[in-house]
Amino acid sequence: MLASTKDILLKAHRKRYAVPHFNINNMEILQGVVQAGVNLKSPLILATSEGSISYAGMNFLYSLVETATRLTKIPIALHLDHGRDLKTIKEAIKIGYSSVMFDGSHLPFEKNVIVTKKVVSWAHRKGISVEAELGTIGGAEDDIRSRKIIYTDPIKAKEFVERTGCDFLAVAIGTSHGAYKFAGKVALRQDILKEIKQKVKMPLVLHGASEVPLSVVREAEKYGANLKGVQGIPDTQIKMAIKNGINKINTDTDLRLAFDAAVRKVVMKKPKDFDPRHILGPAREAIQKVAEDRIRLFGSKGKA
Ligand code: G3H
Ligand code: 13P
Ligand code: ZN
Repeated sequence: MLASTKDILLKAHRKRYAVPHFNINNMEILQGVVQAGVNLKSPLILATSEGSISYAGMNFLYSLVETATRLTKIPIALHLDHGRDLKTIKEAIKIGYSSVMFDGSHLPFEKNVIVTKKVVSWAHRKGISVEAELGTIGGAEDDIRSRKIIYTDPIKAKEFVERTGCDFLAVAIGTSHGAYKFAGKVALRQDILKEIKQKVKMPLVLHGASEVPLSVVREAEKYGANLKGVQGIPDTQIKMAIKNGINKINTDTDLRLAFDAAVRKVVMKKPKDFDPRHILGPAREAIQKVAEDRIRLFGSKGKA
C-alpha cells in the first residue's frame, strides 16, 4: 500500500530532517531509488511529473510504484510533481496517489489561492495531501524555461497557507531546476527560508535542489557529454536549508546525470553490446548510489 506523504512529512517536520523526493520515469530509476531506500531504511516520496506521465502513462507508473510498496517494508509515497493540468490532478487523485502538487506559481497571487483551494478540496475529500507553490523556482520544467526567480514573500506565504489549506509549501529561495543553477556565485536566501518557517509551521519543500556532483559530470564528459557551465547546490547549503526548516527535497537532475553517464560509458566502451540490460543495468546501479548519497545528506537514513 502507498504510504501517506503527510504522515511521512509531519514526522520529518517534528524531528527536523528532510525526506527525499525522487522523480521517476521508468523501471530502472524506480528500482535504483527504491533499493537505496531499502538499504538505508529511509522513507521515500516518489514523484511523477506531467512529462513523465506523458512518457510512461499514469497507470504504468502507479503500478510500478504500487509493486515496489508490496515488495518492500519502507514507507513509499507517490506524488504528482508540478501539477498544472487540472485534469491530470483529478486523475492522480482518482487513481490513488498519496499527494498532488498544484503548481500555481505562474499565476497572480489571488488566482493561485483560488485554484490551490479548489485542488485542496478535491484532494482532502479523498484523504490526499496537497503541496502548493508560492514564488517562482527558476530553470526548466517541461515547457517552462528560464523563468526569473521571484523569492517567496514570508508574509504572503502565511496568508497563502491559511487561505488555501494546503499541507506543504514549496518555497522559492534561489534554487532552480536543471543542471545550470548559478552562473557565478551560489546565492540562496536562507534568511527568507528561516522567516517563512517561523510564520508557516508546516513541512516546507525545496525544489531544484540537485547537487550536480562533479564526479558524475566528469564521468559523463569523459564519454562525450557536453556539460559546460553546470552548477548545482552545494551540500553545505542543503544542510543549512534542512536546519532552517526544509522537510522535502526534490531531486531529478542528479539522477538524470548519473543515468546518462552510466549509459554513455557502456555504449562507448562496448560498441558490440546491444543488450538493453547491459546498457541500463549499470545506470540503475548509478541511480542507487546517487540516491543513497542524498538520503545520507538529508538525514532520513534509519527513519523508515
Ligand atoms: O521539476 C521538474 C522535474 O525535474 C521534472 O522534469 O518535467 O522534465 O519531467 P520533467
Ligand atoms: P533538480 O532539477 O534540481 O533535480 O530539481 C528537481 C525538482 O525540483 C523536481 O520537482
Ligand atoms: Zn520542481
